[in-house]
Amino acid sequence: MSTHKKPEVAIVMGSISDLDTMKGAIDILKGFGIPIVAKVLSAHRTPKDLEAFIVAMEQSGVRAFIAGAGGAAALAGVIASHTTIPVLGVPIETKSLKGLDSLLSTVQMPAGIPVATFAIGSSGAKNAALFALSLLALDSASLDKKLKDFRRKQAKTVKKARVIV
Ligand code: RP5
Repeated sequence: MSTHKKPEVAIVMGSISDLDTMKGAIDILKGFGIPIVAKVLSAHRTPKDLEAFIVAMEQSGVRAFIAGAGGAAALAGVIASHTTIPVLGVPIETKSLKGLDSLLSTVQMPAGIPVATFAIGSSGAKNAALFALSLLALDSASLDKKLKDFRRKQAKTVKKARVIV
């Protein structure tokens, strides 16, 4: 899945089974008109392809990686070990341990190789996308305005739902 312009954000997931969750990130970035690329690449199952992809993305000028993986989730950390581009990690919910395994594997990085880790599951995927937008908005006034509009609309929706009876 990719748009025609050079991608600004690369979304990587460890398995196609992660797509339901990671779609939350894809949809938000697309909604904001950000060129993205999204791929299934695994730190454990396809390590060489993953490394080649990271190198290609660095060369094409990608500004952030979003990595979603579950279980023994090495994906975000391995990406971060290959690049200084910001890596945003999304722990995927799992059947056996409800994603606590993914969370700890993603968040407990050794000092020196940072991964910004988000909530387990779809909240995490959505917030990783919004965080990537915040990074991109640091040098785009138009994107910053769009993000502020998004927050305003969100607040209105919450306010409308406030009165229950
Ligand atoms: C991880 O293992 C993937 O990110 C996925 O969340 C989990 C299970 O993968 P499948 O067995 O569904 O392919 O690497």
